[in-house]
Amino acid sequence: MANGLTKPVYHFDTLRLRAGYEPNAHQYAVSPPIYQTASFDFRDVEHAKALFSLGEIGNIYTRVGNPTVTALEQRVAALDGASGAIALASGMAAISYTLLNIAEGGGRILASPYLYGGSTDSFKKIYPKFGITIDLARNIENPEKLATEIRPDTKAIFVESISNPNAVLLDLDAIAKVAHEHGIPLVVDNTVATPYLYNPIAHGADVVIYSATKGLSGHGNVIAGLVLESGNFNWQTEKFPQFAEEYYTLRDPEGKKRSFPQVFPEFPFTARIRFNYLNYFGAALSPFNAYLVLLGLETLSERLAKQVQNAQTLAEYLSTHQAVEWVRYPGLQSSPYHALAKRDFPKGAGGILSFGFKGTEAQREAFLNAVQLFHYHVNIGDARSLIVNSPQTTHHELEPDEKKLADLPENLIRISAGLENPNDLIADLEHAFKKAYEID
Ligand SMILES: Cc1ncc(COP(=O)(O)O)c(C=O)c1O
Repeated sequence: MANGLTKPVYHFDTLRLRAGYEPNAHQYAVSPPIYQTASFDFRDVEHAKALFSLGEIGNIYTRVGNPTVTALEQRVAALDGASGAIALASGMAAISYTLLNIAEGGGRILASPYLYGGSTDSFKKIYPKFGITIDLARNIENPEKLATEIRPDTKAIFVESISNPNAVLLDLDAIAKVAHEHGIPLVVDNTVATPYLYNPIAHGADVVIYSATKGLSGHGNVIAGLVLESGNFNWQTEKFPQFAEEYYTLRDPEGKKRSFPQVFPEFPFTARIRFNYLNYFGAALSPFNAYLVLLGLETLSERLAKQVQNAQTLAEYLSTHQAVEWVRYPGLQSSPYHALAKRDFPKGAGGILSFGFKGTEAQREAFLNAVQLFHYHVNIGDARSLIVNSPQTTHHELEPDEKKLADLPENLIRISAGLENPNDLIADLEHAFKKAYEID
């Protein structure tokens, strides 16, 4: 569990290796052990009593807590400067538990239209059935006008810090200000940026979400998610009556029911996800998968730095190519997000970029069929370079008007830069362009 989180006294590069794990508490094992167990013995009846009454925090059952998973939660919390964290089985579990925890019982979420396709589609298909309406904002890039889209029952603003696939950047400080003026939290999906490139809490975010499937783990070998909280948002207002609810399970030694903010004042949001949503909806991260994410985190800084370099090189190569209509990458001078990138992303604005393929649909398909080094699949943030036709795959759920709003033209091709030698990547693209243009 994310109690007693390591405070970020060390620098980022030290924390990604050391935070949240003390070898002397684990048989002096240098690498965090995989606690592959479903359940944990009680020492005696007194111990069981203490754990269940929350008098002592400890492990009971891996669905709600496990030492390998706890190490991951505490490590990422330290990287983000969060007061609490919870790891879950996927990024989608992180998003759904977060939004349900905020708007359960009904309400609205104001969301950026620039999102992963699965997020947008789930917003339309699933949440309304739970009484939650998700409005796609028209003014997410004009924070001064965004307030006009906040309704009395709007309960949060949801954005991606670097959007997938267009790498849209937003002025999160300004958006956070609008949210806070209306007594609602800003929720940021920081998956593409990772904490190495961007710290949402430092820019006013109240809740941070990760699909750890991507850059955090970085090797394309695990599905995982995390939710973090800043500890700064006041959930005890009329908008969020669920945080005032008092539960028998949280009772004090005298048997008086208590609420989450009473028992977990530093991290009521993630504690509520843990004991309500994770406990009963059950999308638990396995200890083995938590270990893989921890292992990936050990090289987060080096991977992201190289991916940013490779993305920049590929963006520059593509932007002068005659087979390319346009390139979207905030590192390019020509990008409308270049100034924001320089201000808020000093280490680079991510490893994903997209470009418009100039040619027919058949030529575009021939191009994708001809790449040899790039992997053609839906993931991002892998050590290997990846390529995909997003509008037809990762965002295929979007209807034409939604694609228009999300600015996803049919000829968009997304690249997730890996760690290869960039000359090999360029040679692969060059070869594929040639093959594509062999078709009339
Ligand atoms: C930005 C973003 N958030 C969330 C998700 C969902 O994460 P997961 O696939 O781990 O459930 C994805 C998946 O592609 C994503 O790109």
